[in-house]
Amino acid sequence: MSYDYSGKTVFVSGGTSGINLGIAHGFAKAGAKLAVMSRSQDKVDAAIAELKAHGGEVIGFAADVRDYAAVDAAFKDTSLRLGNIDVLISGAAGNFPSPAMGISPNGFKSVVDIDLLGTFHVVRAAFPYLTKPGASVINISAPQAWIALEFQMHVCAAKAGVDMVTRVAAIEWGPLGVRVNSISPGPIEGTEGMRRLAPNERATELVRDSVPMGCFGSTDDIAQAAMWLSSPLARYVTGVVLPVDGGWSLGGVTAMGSGIKKAMGG
Ligand code: NAP
Ligand code: COA
Repeated sequence: MSYDYSGKTVFVSGGTSGINLGIAHGFAKAGAKLAVMSRSQDKVDAAIAELKAHGGEVIGFAADVRDYAAVDAAFKDTSLRLGNIDVLISGAAGNFPSPAMGISPNGFKSVVDIDLLGTFHVVRAAFPYLTKPGASVINISAPQAWIALEFQMHVCAAKAGVDMVTRVAAIEWGPLGVRVNSISPGPIEGTEGMRRLAPNERATELVRDSVPMGCFGSTDDIAQAAMWLSSPLARYVTGVVLPVDGGWSLGGVTAMGSGIKKAMGG
């Protein structure tokens, strides 16, 4: 199945590495104009160079999603240079494994500020520039949003909030023809998230064995889901949290908690 996003503008926050960059590649290959945003100017420059190889227009912003003024400026600039935003992906996030008592107040705040407040900043600042009707907003969630997982109290709390941002925005913006959904990826091979949560071969095996489909997902699996969800084929789908995880969230996710515990010597 291939999609045609030519003439469309896609903005990906956190779109300079891993899953979000994979999503950006999917849309760029399908002909879209791309804007990506993350903190590191080097990562932004590298992502722009990679994405331009697909032949379309690509711009980027070095900005922290915790800084509302910087996020707001990025959307204003995108709308001036690439037009209204047809697809918005909010995927910037931070994670580290730690038992609750090892998370300082500032550590908890950092993750909540990046994942939850950052998602609010992104969708709020983008709103005036979304194509109405027709825009698709996708927040990148995680199984931690509804499955309690040891060593992940901060991420569980933040991602649960992200899914509520999705649901409330879906209700408020539905009448304007803007659909808002979350995608909840399973364990995705070769990503920073997995390097942090399954940092050795034993933990990697434990995660793989806990997925009903018996394998890790790829960044392209998530890109395909995002392209379907943003297409007219999904015109009546809004306010959902879509797991793209080989069945992991049916129960296997909790095995990762024991994996992290073992990897940390617990
Ligand atoms: P990643 O490569 O580290 O992606 C995170 C992105 O967010 C990077 O581009 C990073 O770039 C950016 N970022 C981080 N903090 C930021 C901030 N304060 N402001 C702006 N940008 C910021 O990790 P990933 O594993 O691919 O994860 C991507 C998304 O998928 C996350 O939302 C994560 O929760 C979700 N997820 C991942 C998995 C998995 O298996 N990996 C599973 C479930 C859900 P800079 O460093 O340049 O800022
Ligand atoms: N265990 C416990 N606390 C940790 C930690 C760890 N492994 N890593 C960071 N922290 C704490 C810090 O000690 C600090 O708290 P303190 O001021 O009380 O000491 C707090 O978290 C903030 O750390 P800092 O490095 O200043 O934050 P930052 O805003 O620069 O970075 C992070 C945010 C910590 C989430 C960082 O890991 C990051 O930038 N991650 C982005 C990439 C990523 O996580 N990818 C995977 C996505 S799923």
